[in-house]
Amino acid sequence: MNEGPPMNPTRSVLVTGGASGIGLAIARDFQALGMRVLIADVNAAVHEVAAGMKDMKGAQPVEAHVADLADESQLLGLAERTRELFGGGCDVLVNCAGVSQKRKGESIAPTEVLTADWERVLRINLTAPFLLSRELIPSMKARKFGRIVNIASRAGRTFSGAAGVDYAASKAGLLGLTRHLGGTYAPFGITVNCVAPGRVETALSSTSSAAVLAAAVQAIPVGRLGRPDEIAAVVAFLASDAAAYLTGACIDVNGGSFMG
Ligand SMILES: NC(=O)c1ccc[n+]([C@@H]2O[C@H](COP(=O)([O-])OP(=O)(O)OC[C@H]3O[C@@H](n4cnc5c(N)ncnc54)[C@H](O)[C@@H]3O)[C@@H](O)[C@H]2O)c1
Repeated sequence: MNEGPPMNPTRSVLVTGGASGIGLAIARDFQALGMRVLIADVNAAVHEVAAGMKDMKGAQPVEAHVADLADESQLLGLAERTRELFGGGCDVLVNCAGVSQKRKGESIAPTEVLTADWERVLRINLTAPFLLSRELIPSMKARKFGRIVNIASRAGRTFSGAAGVDYAASKAGLLGLTRHLGGTYAPFGITVNCVAPGRVETALSSTSSAAVLAAAVQAIPVGRLGRPDEIAAVVAFLASDAAAYLTGACIDVNGGSFMG
């Protein structure tokens, strides 16, 4: 668990993809900072995950919501729940839910990607962060404070043969979304940034074959995969009051495997 940077404990945060991996580590850090946390996920286990987090000493209970972010009406339902729960909207939005298509542990060749699969990956990884931002920015604007952190990927920063073309395009798109929203809403106390992890030990990265994983580790100067808490620490900083002058940026957290 990260100690964490200065953060107003009364602040509220929505973390998508909070049932596992990086999203769960992010939610744990915010809870430890005393914030009000809502985790959302397509996986109904998100309720059990949140219930398990209630045991943390002195921490506020974590709320959970099931939504498939590929479905706009479910996404709008999540935005509505966020508004109801936090008196109009959240202070911090972390767009972490993401998917990557694999076939037998390998990425699918661009010429074999089906239109429906391309659209699904883009909807979850890129359209959902846009729609949630669109829905939740107005209340941030009214409060004159907001933090949006988008979880991109090294695959959106440079070529990665291990990632699919749909995944790479969706994550690169997040960088453009981040810059545009960052520039537009900076005058209102809202910052928008990206974190681009390299390979991190989670369920998502374990869908790669052993051969792909071994090659990935070889290409990481730090010599190992990242841990979810190492991504969460950077997200906590970007969400903090201390990061008010940082917007439209993409922070690479990849053990040195890509230095942009
Ligand atoms: N693990 C890595 O190596 C790595 C590297 C770079 C970027 N990332 C990014 O980090 C983020 C978190 O991934 P992770 O590694 O923790 O994987 P993960 O699979 O553990 O977590 C992703 C979460 O998103 C949820 N999710 C998937 N589709 C959804 C949908 N339609 N609606 C709502 N929730 C949905 C999943 O149920 C899961 O809980 C993703 O955006 C991923 O692209 C991961």
